[in-house]
This record gives sequence, C-alpha cells and structure tokens, in this order.
Amino acid sequence: MTRHLYVHLPFCAHRCGYCDFVTAVGRQEQHGPYVDALLSELDLERSLLAPTLETVFLGGGTPTFTEPHALERLLTSLPRADEVTVEANPETVTQELARMLRSHGVNRVSLGVQSFRPHLLSVLDRVVHPDTVRRAFYHLRDAGFDNISFDLIYGIPGQSAADLETDLADALELGPEHLSCYELEAKPGTRFTHAHGDELARQADSMETYFEAVVERLTEDGYRWYETANFCRGGDRDLRSRHNLAYWLGLDYLGLGVGAVSTFAGRRWRNAPGLSRYLQALAKGERPERELEQLSVEVQQQERVMLGLRLDEPLVLGELAGVLDRDALLRLERLGLVESDARTLALTQRGRFLGGGVTADLLA
Ligand SMILES: C[S@@+](CC[C@H](N)C(=O)[O-])C[C@H]1O[C@@H](n2cnc3c(N)ncnc32)[C@H](O)[C@@H]1O
Ligand code: SF4
Repeated sequence: MTRHLYVHLPFCAHRCGYCDFVTAVGRQEQHGPYVDALLSELDLERSLLAPTLETVFLGGGTPTFTEPHALERLLTSLPRADEVTVEANPETVTQELARMLRSHGVNRVSLGVQSFRPHLLSVLDRVVHPDTVRRAFYHLRDAGFDNISFDLIYGIPGQSAADLETDLADALELGPEHLSCYELEAKPGTRFTHAHGDELARQADSMETYFEAVVERLTEDGYRWYETANFCRGGDRDLRSRHNLAYWLGLDYLGLGVGAVSTFAGRRWRNAPGLSRYLQALAKGERPERELEQLSVEVQQQERVMLGLRLDEPLVLGELAGVLDRDALLRLERLGLVESDARTLALTQRGRFLGGGVTADLLA
C-alpha cells in the first residue's frame, strides 16, 4: 500500500505555448463530472492506499481554475494527509479561494510564478501581471499558509542574466518557504519552438551559467539546495516537498485523473490523456484506458540511482551497487564529480552542476 496520492486537474484558462502537460482549456461544464470521475477512480483504487496518507498533491493543469464548488467537493472527499499541496496559478488566487483551500486541509501551495518580468511572462503566454503574483502570495499568507513554494523558469527567450537576477531578488523579497527553478524545456516541433528557435539556441548556451547563478543566489540567502531544481528554507522545519521526495526516493504512489501516472509494486501505469474517454469509462464505473509497463529490477534500480543522486543526501547503495559501472565510478571520483564510500554514493557540488551527464556515465 502507498501513502502518496497524486490527483490531476487538467483544466486551464488558456494554453501556454511552452506547456506539455495534459491540459484542457475552459470546459467549465465538465469540471463537476470530472470530479465525479476522480472520486470513482479513487473508489476503484482505494485498496492501494494505506489507511493514513503522508502526502496528497493536486497538480495540473491549473487545479485552482477548477470550478470552486467542484474543487471544494473534491477536497472534502479526498483522504486527509500530513502534507496536502495544491498547484495554483497566481491570477486564480483570491482571498476566498485561499481561505477555502486552507479550511479544507490544504497546507502547502505551489504557485506558478515563472517570472516577475512582464516581457518574459508575455513570451510564455502568461496572462498575469507581477503584482498579481504578489497579491496572490499575500492572500495565501493572510489565509494562514506558512508553506508556499514558487515555480520559476529560466532560459526564457529574451531573458538576460540581469533579468534572472532580478527575478530571484523579487522572489526572495517575498520569502517563500520553497522554490523550484526549472530550465525552460522547449519541445521540438511545437509552435513555441518554431517561434523562438534562434533565441532558444542562444539561451541554451547560457543555461549552465544561469543554473549556477540560481544555486549561488539561493544558497547565499540561506536556502538548502536539496534537489537539482529544488530549494527550501533552512532552519528547524524540514520544508522539502515530501510528496516529490517520495518520487525521488523511488517510493510507490497512486495517480488519479486523466494522464496521471502511478507506480506500484514494480508496475507503472499511465491513464490515457483523452478527457472524454476518461469521463465515459468512469461514468460506467470502469477503469480508464491505461498504458502498463512492467519495470524490471534493473530498471527500478537504475531509476533509484538517477533520482537519488539528484538529492543532496548521499544515496545508500546496498543492492544498487550492482548497476553501477565500477570503472566510470573510479574515473568520476578522480575527476572530483562523485564521492563514494563502501556504503553510499553522492555527487559533489561540481557533479551536481553536471547532473544527468554524470549519472548517465555511472549507469553506462
Ligand atoms: C504542472 S505545471 C503547471 C502549473 C500551473 N498551471 C502553472 O502554469 O503555473 C508545473 C510547473 O512546471 C513548470 N513547467 C511547465 N512547463 C515547463 C517547461 N516547458 N519547461 C520548464 N518548466 C516547465 C512550470 O514552472 C510550472 O509551474
Ligand atoms: S496554465 Fe500551467 S498547466 Fe495550464 S497551459 Fe499554462 S503552463 Fe500549462
């Protein structure tokens, strides 16, 4: 049984050009039926969930764009958990919404800020003004949220090193408990990539410098760089995302909703991305169409290494030692990119900047 539940809410007010998530624009008339479908899926899978949960994560799409009564009904019906996170777009966060979330057991909000620079928000097709982000943050604080995370993106077409510095300064001025800072990923063949091709190539050349600037600025300010792209405030409270830690530590989790992924006892399944078919299947009390993957022990171990090395705490090797390339390990140690003793393995600071490349060598 698992103690981690992900719930996907796909609806958004509009589609941002860079986004590759399973989303549906508008469709207000489907929000209620979609919540019914989620709750039916929960019933079908309930035996996979432990009696008490550690984390629930409502991701999207834009969960806070969901019609408020439907969202409230969902929150009321979901199992309680120690950490309940909701992803929110700043322009959807009103005083009422913040209070509603808080009164229904949500204790962590992940705010999709992306940038505080109007010209960069416009490149990303974001409809929000930076002051709206600040207002959303204070509505959440006023409602009693003491665990707020910001998502920021860097490497945006038109962004300069100075823009990034100002974005970080603006974020730090508000002082969220947690920050996720992502490199912009632009999928080949999309309208966004077509529109910004040359500029994306230029940004790609600066990505390493940007990454170092992000880590330097946030750690200087006292944040812990606990995962490649994630930072939390230091101090007495452990403010790491407990839900995402479950993924990175290779624990099982159940995902509900259109396009949602679950990993359970060596099997991974992904619900099909089509909204209508998802609604139809669950209206009949049937499981939605799924893609199922059986994970071999070797693949599970490789994933554990790949994800575990993203964290700042050493990976306890045990049986994972078998999937490592010994020669590569010695070479990377000599290069000062990894540190290992008989029991554990970790990337050094330099290794963490190179990240995936080092891990790929270790698993070659
Ligand atoms: C599920 S998404 C969207 C959440 C929310 N709807 C929003 O737009 O803020 C969660 C986060 O993934 C990040 N993200 C989405 N697409 C990305 C991309 N192409 N490259 C890098 N980060 C991306 C954004 O920072 C976003 O806040
Ligand atoms: S609002 Fe978020 S989830 Fe929706 S399209 Fe934009 S980036 Fe994607």
